[in-house]
Amino acid sequence: MWDVIIIGAGASGLMCAIEAGKRGRKVLLLDHAKRAGQKILMSGGGRCNFTNLYLEPNNYLCDNPHFVKSALSRYTQWDFIALVDKHKINWHEREHGQLFCDDSAKQIVTMLLDGAKQVGVQLQLQTEIIAHSQSADHLFTLQTKQGSMQCHSLVIATGGLSLPKMGATPFAYKVAEQYQLPVKPTRAGLVPFTLQQKDKFAALSGISLPATASCEVKVGKKSKQISFSEALLFTHRGLSGPVILQISNYWQPGEKVSLDLLPSLDLLHILQTQQQTNPEQTLKTLLAKQLPKRVVECLLEMAAIENLPLKKYHEKQLITISQLFHQWSPQISGTEGYRTAEVTLGGVDTDFVSSKTFECKTTKGLYFVGEALDVTGWLGGFNFQWAWASGWAAGQEV
Ligand code: FDA
Repeated sequence: MWDVIIIGAGASGLMCAIEAGKRGRKVLLLDHAKRAGQKILMSGGGRCNFTNLYLEPNNYLCDNPHFVKSALSRYTQWDFIALVDKHKINWHEREHGQLFCDDSAKQIVTMLLDGAKQVGVQLQLQTEIIAHSQSADHLFTLQTKQGSMQCHSLVIATGGLSLPKMGATPFAYKVAEQYQLPVKPTRAGLVPFTLQQKDKFAALSGISLPATASCEVKVGKKSKQISFSEALLFTHRGLSGPVILQISNYWQPGEKVSLDLLPSLDLLHILQTQQQTNPEQTLKTLLAKQLPKRVVECLLEMAAIENLPLKKYHEKQLITISQLFHQWSPQISGTEGYRTAEVTLGGVDTDFVSSKTFECKTTKGLYFVGEALDVTGWLGGFNFQWAWASGWAAGQEV
């Protein structure tokens, strides 16, 4: 018999376990994997982008945009930074306020595991939950191959569907279904795009350049434009890099993404002035001064634009050329899917979960935290901060 059983020893589950343990609760933390915190270990290229300095609620996607506010304001990035500092883990800031460990993501996992141990949390790995139920007196009973166990509070911290090879499962959504909680449709987020004419772009694989990606997003009945400016990377199957991962959270199949490959230039103005001052210069020569030659050749070829001296183009053609590079709209066939996605969009409907306690509004004692919920952050440490904050908040209540 336990006060609290937490299923999922990832970022949110570990944080929740520590906080509940600090309050003197008898906590069992279960996971089916061999190791705790596997995604933390592989995150940020092994250095874990553990939070972000410039965190705002609008860095998150959730059908109820207000849902994230309470937890994020109660356990902030500064709280996690203080914890990391207390454990003498050195870190550094990269662009856009992203904070990474200087040495290794292992330090974050060790810090959390030590924290859990210190407050008496029992960690049980390689444990499969076969069945679970709640009795009339609100006690939960869990069946595992290692036997059955009971608890007053059950926390589901099993994350989303990304990286099934690392042990991701739809466990949280199945629990939600069992307790009649709606789940918002799920899809891969922070994920590379695949392109329809991928063979035509294969030669560009490995090229990286700064770009701005934009797409239309529906907000209620209105739509607004959302944009990100970061690096774009051509891959052998399509497009990746931070700018693509960011916009992938907002892209819906069948919709357009517009890419500005020269975000800091006014190409039309350059074309017009160069036409006057250097009319014999060819288009390709001019463009290759601003962009990798292979990218220029590929895009001109695909748009069937001839390479001529600048004097040969009339105004309308100059506008078309400028739009090709400022508003390139590649034909996206889809995404690389959960195999490579960093996160899962959608999840347990937040209308049915308290934003303060993370307890399910319709089932006493049942809690959902972390990525299992319909909350997804931008790239840059926002997803871990959500895991820490939601785990922390539930840890005060369970
Ligand atoms: P998390 O996935 O951490 O933990 C879920 C746990 O539940 C796992 O330990 C899993 O084994 C267990 N589990 C699942 N199903 C189970 C079942 N049926 N029974 C028992 N246990 C089960 N974010 C960020 O902010 N900065 C970054 O640098 C990165 N980098 C990054 C890289 C890669 C490659 C990925 C895939 C993801 C990231 N992320 C990230 C996202 C971040 O890892 C993610 O949002 C959090 O880990 C989510 O925390 P949770 O606790 O919700 O789930």
